[in-house]
This record gives sequence, C-alpha cells and structure tokens, in this order.
Amino acid sequence: MNSLVQRSVQIILSNQAESGAYIASPNFPTYHYCWLRDGSFIAYSMDLVGEHQSALAFFHWIDRAIQKYAWKVDRLLEKQNKKEQLLESDFLHTRYTLSGDEAEGEWLNFQLDGYGTWLWALSEHVQRTNEISLLEDFASSIKKTVQYLLAFWDYPNYDCWEENPYHLHPYTLAAIYSGLASAQKIANISDKINFVGPSSDVLLRIRQFTIDHGVKNGHLVKSFLPLGKETQKEIPVASDGVDSSLLGVALPYRMFKPSDPLMRDTVARVESDLHRSHGGVYRYLADTYYGGGEWLLLAAWLGWFYAETGDMQRAVGLQQWIEAQADQPGHLPEQVSNHLLSPSYYEMWEKRWGPVANPLLWSHAMYLILHDVIRQNSQTNKISVSWSGR
Ligand code: BGC
Repeated sequence: MNSLVQRSVQIILSNQAESGAYIASPNFPTYHYCWLRDGSFIAYSMDLVGEHQSALAFFHWIDRAIQKYAWKVDRLLEKQNKKEQLLESDFLHTRYTLSGDEAEGEWLNFQLDGYGTWLWALSEHVQRTNEISLLEDFASSIKKTVQYLLAFWDYPNYDCWEENPYHLHPYTLAAIYSGLASAQKIANISDKINFVGPSSDVLLRIRQFTIDHGVKNGHLVKSFLPLGKETQKEIPVASDGVDSSLLGVALPYRMFKPSDPLMRDTVARVESDLHRSHGGVYRYLADTYYGGGEWLLLAAWLGWFYAETGDMQRAVGLQQWIEAQADQPGHLPEQVSNHLLSPSYYEMWEKRWGPVANPLLWSHAMYLILHDVIRQNSQTNKISVSWSGR
C-alpha cells in the first residue's frame, strides 16, 4: 500500500464518530457535521479498502437518522396529496450532527442527491460483502427514502455545491436515478423485505427528462430551470455551461455509460473549461467559493472517468497531481488556491470561515477510489499482457 493510501484510510477511520458518522472536516468548524453525500462516497471508499465495519457503521447512522425523521416524509406526502404549499423546512436535511440529529440554525437543506447516493453506496456494500440480511435491518429507511425520491425527484432543489435552489441539476437527477435503480436491485436480491422496488418506467422517465431538458449543444449542462409542470411548454436550459460534478452522471450513477457520446462530449467540455492543464479541476467557471480553486475530489473524479475509459496515462497523471497536494501530515484539502478563478473572493471566505477545509474526508475518499480503479485496471492489463505473451 502506498503511504498516502494508508494515511487516507487512517484519517477517515480516526475521524469517524462512534455513532458511525464521518465528520466532513475536523479542522473546519462549518463542516463539523456529516453530509449524506460526502459520507456515502467515504463509506464506498472504506468498502474498497476492506474496512467494511466502518461503512456498515455509517449505514446504521443514516438508518437511525432517517427513521427519526421519517415522519417528515409522511407529512410531506400528505401535504403534497392535499396540494398544500410545501415549505423548505418540511424537507429532509442534507447533513446531520454526528449523533444523527438535525443541526440547529439555517442551512441550505433541501438537497436530494445524498438520498440517492446512500442507497447506491448501501447496495454496493451488500453486493461486495454479501450481507443480504442487512437489507432487512434497513428495510424501513430504504422504503422511506424511495417514497421520498419518487415523490419529489422533479422538484427544484439545491445542487451538490448547495447552490441554485430554483434549478434542476443533471447530477442530482442521476444520483436519484442511481438510488432508485439500487433500490430495485435490493428488492430483487432480498425477498424478505417485502418491498416492491421502483419500476423501470420511472427510471426511464428520469433519464428521458434529463435528455429532454438538460442537454445543450450536444452535452449535459450544469442546471436548468423548470417552467412549472402545469404548462406543457419546453423547459428552457438555464445555462449552457458545464459543471465537473457531471462526471457523476456516468460514474458512479451510470445514468449514461461512460462511453455514451453524450458523456464523452460532456467530459470533453469539462476538460476544456475546467481542467487546468497539468493541474486540477475546477467546479464551474463562475465559482467564487474561496476564490474558486481546484478541487482534489474532482481531479480524482476525472481520473476515475479516464481509468474506466482506458486512458490510464491521464488517470495516473491526476493521481500524481493529487499526491503532490498532500501536506506534511498527509492531509488532502478540499481545494488548492494557487490558480484561482476569482481571486478577489478568497479573502472574504477566509475571514468568514477560516482557511480552506483540510483535511476533507471526501477528498481522501475520492483519492482512494481513484487509486483502486487504477490498481484494478493495471492488474487486468498485466494479465492481458502475459496472455498475449504466450
Ligand atoms: C460542498 C458540498 C459538501 C460540503 C461538505 C460544501 O462546501 O459544496 O458539496 O458536501 O461542503 O464537504
């Protein structure tokens, strides 16, 4: 194991609370919570390195949180049925305290992607460990999550960067798609949980909805605006720009295959607009958060895409770039600030919340994922090399 891999595992495990929650970043007070989004990728990375107990503890933490707030989903469905106005405070939160409670104070909480992502991570865990009986333990929170996603998948909500609440986002739609597809798999694996998974019809609808409204100039766009479901008019594409989170539409959510021309063209645009040559990856061009730096987890994500599509050289290049960003104690930050998109905003954020989050557990998790996919790929290549040598 290389030392940054070992260090990443150690940093993640030592920052997992007894409750199973992963703190987003221990040295950055604003991130002293556990996000469903970050946590699910972290749990997946723990499964890849064989730390299944850590992943399992995280799933128990989510399960308890969802059970605790399941009444909110019931109330939302009732209100939706009666066509009553839904308030932002009615929806489930995007992050919880380490003990699994809603955090006090205002936050941009209505974000659906994490609820799809946890179902994806859980189904990966079960397939890897073969612990099918877990599905019975988690049955009620799986069902509640599915009800929630089915009822609200086409509602505008905050994107994965916790911005743009009036838009819909292909990344979020893909996370929901993947969560529902995972629930379908779960329903097929376990006949004991007495659960009819979501229909393939709804999956096709989400996918088609994204194609109809979230594509411009041959690629997926960052976000689009709904016009109101009652009008049958076409939903206009709000912006024709991309966001690096669109990589997630293919990996891991697989709403489109990485080889799909739509994904290829989307990633080509991400490369030309957001990948600094020999450097890292920005979120989107207008990013001003901490001046809009290069995000390590996005560099790993692009590397993951390259590795899965056979471009090992570029995947390894990104892995090395991430390794070069680790500081003396082997911490990987959220972003690095040497080549900012909007430098004038950096100071404002630093004054407000302190230096950039470091370590960010999600950065370590994505590094582990990239490392694993490169390792697997080079093993496969070695085998094929020796075969062709015979
Ligand atoms: C990011 C989110 C992330 C959270 C915790 C926010 O700044 O936009 O994607 O979940 O930090 O890491």
